[in-house]
Amino acid sequence: MELIKVKKGHEGNVAAVLFADEIKALARPVIGLATGSTPVRMYDYLIKRNQSGELDFSKVCSFNLDEYCGLPKVHPQSYYSFMQEHLFKYVNIDQRNVFFPNGNAVSLAEECSQYESMIQEAGGIDIQLLGIGHNGHIGFNEPSDIIAKETHVQVLADSTRTANARFFTSIEEVPTHAITMGIKTILNARKIMLLCCGEGKAEILKQALYGDVTPRVPASLLQLHPQLTVITDQNI
Ligand code: PGA
Repeated sequence: MELIKVKKGHEGNVAAVLFADEIKALARPVIGLATGSTPVRMYDYLIKRNQSGELDFSKVCSFNLDEYCGLPKVHPQSYYSFMQEHLFKYVNIDQRNVFFPNGNAVSLAEECSQYESMIQEAGGIDIQLLGIGHNGHIGFNEPSDIIAKETHVQVLADSTRTANARFFTSIEEVPTHAITMGIKTILNARKIMLLCCGEGKAEILKQALYGDVTPRVPASLLQLHPQLTVITDQNI
């Protein structure tokens, strides 16, 4: 693991430089993307680099980690909308190469296995971006006694729904389920970049990186990955 400690507010720039280097090094980069507050500054820098001509997205294929179930694709809080607003509509990515699990599929089980196959058909993910939840979740893999390996439907933890209620008008509106890549899907990425900002996440990050490897702290399973880069503004 490479742990990069940065000053507060600098994680986005540092992450964008590393992420852009990965994209530039590959002829047909397959990237895994994340939503949430954490990656927003990194996306801003990627947009700047794209608009200045330094970074080309035209050959990039992207797979997002997760999507809510039962929320219309164009709902302002869908992860599809989030990615459009924070990255895709400002860069020269081909929208035909942008993939999300469909949380409104008639058969969610079929959708999950199709998403898994699509990632494999694209050649697997070269670099996966991750945030970490206060409860240690990655994607929407919530703490559990078992490891859900592949893309699956996840019941959201109450704490996750409470944390995400800030984006909705009330907690009742926060979906109860989501489709998420599984732990194995994530660990299959050739490289992983975990971003973690703020004092409120220091303790869970410490547990994830140095504590027991357990599905009770899903991010701790990242310890098993040989090419993990962690960027944080915390002194852990
Ligand atoms: P945040 O979410 O970036 O909004 O803190 C991270 C996560 O829950 O994975």
